[in-house]
Amino acid sequence: MKFQEFTLERIQSLYENTVEHNLSDSGVHPYTLRELLNPEQLSSLLDVELGYGWTNGGTELRQSVANLYKNRTPDDVIITNGSAEANFLLVMSVLNPGDDLIVFVPNYLQMWGWAKALGVNVVEVQLREELGWLPDMDELHAAITPRTKMITICHPNNPTGSLLDEAAMTELVDIARAHDLYLHADEVYRGSELDGHETATFADLYDKAIVTAGLSKALALPGLRIGWLVGPADVIYTCWQAKDYTSITTSAISEYVANIVIQPEKRAEVLNRSRTLLNANVDLLSGWLKENNQYSCHLPKAGGMAFMRYAMPINSTKLIHEIREKRSIMLLPGDVYGLDGYIRIGIGAPIEHLRVGLKELSDYTKNNFA
Ligand SMILES: Cc1ncc(COP(=O)(O)O)c(C=O)c1O
Repeated sequence: MKFQEFTLERIQSLYENTVEHNLSDSGVHPYTLRELLNPEQLSSLLDVELGYGWTNGGTELRQSVANLYKNRTPDDVIITNGSAEANFLLVMSVLNPGDDLIVFVPNYLQMWGWAKALGVNVVEVQLREELGWLPDMDELHAAITPRTKMITICHPNNPTGSLLDEAAMTELVDIARAHDLYLHADEVYRGSELDGHETATFADLYDKAIVTAGLSKALALPGLRIGWLVGPADVIYTCWQAKDYTSITTSAISEYVANIVIQPEKRAEVLNRSRTLLNANVDLLSGWLKENNQYSCHLPKAGGMAFMRYAMPINSTKLIHEIREKRSIMLLPGDVYGLDGYIRIGIGAPIEHLRVGLKELSDYTKNNFA
């Protein structure tokens, strides 16, 4: 088996901790435990027993996750180490060499790369910039073959922050149902919608939907490494069997904190913090774009990143490395999505970081490409 480099993660791993202003993240600036929990909760952490726990996640936590969806039980849920492990298990458990997996691109590309390594035939359907980074459903129809087993969508989308409206979500479900396909949605950015209206989850719309979610992005807690899958109980059980070969279980401390965070009132509080920060940063970015006409962007509707097109004659990987080396700002190149001519900028950082980052980016652009 041969892995193609997961360039998006590789570039971040190499450089994101080496710069003064990291604007390469896609989530919201993380909490400390002290900010997140009250003194009583902090003190109760000291009594958490550091055992293995349940390898598919504690029953109480799985019940709390199930409560986030309609008509779900703990058997429809598995808790994973980040949503990355959720995606990993799903590909490993459901797809076989020779199956077709339809992937809307651009997207995070983890499922894309892992499925390819397993010999799955990955079929791309483009999100169209001219449609506000949404798909043309005729292209989806054309991509389906008798070998298609699953469609996967990142929704809200990484890197563009685009969102399907209700009609398009229904259309996608109808297409999956008509062909009896699994529909996988990576919903880690759900809940961070800037207008405050939380998008429906595919898990509530289709019995063969499998949803990835977790605490890392909209909920601003990537260091807890808690994700999950919600889906048909037989699929979840197969993923649980695969988990025996990966990490066995998640951390007892993280599960304990997760169960506090996803209770409705706390979850609403955390999401409110995320949306407040993101809205302020999108306003800043939108003002900056008006004054920096070498850059343009469909502003994101959700998530902690914006995908900007630029007009300068320079390769995106070269551009981000120059800015990193000369200005200590970390951005992501469109190249990691196979889209040169774009950069991804994090808008989930504290506003001062974004302000400095944008100023450095304008100065660099003016000095080099005026
Ligand atoms: C769409 C998407 N899914 C999954 C992940 C993995 O996140 P984590 O494992 O921290 O939950 C990321 C990280 O950027 C992502 O963007």
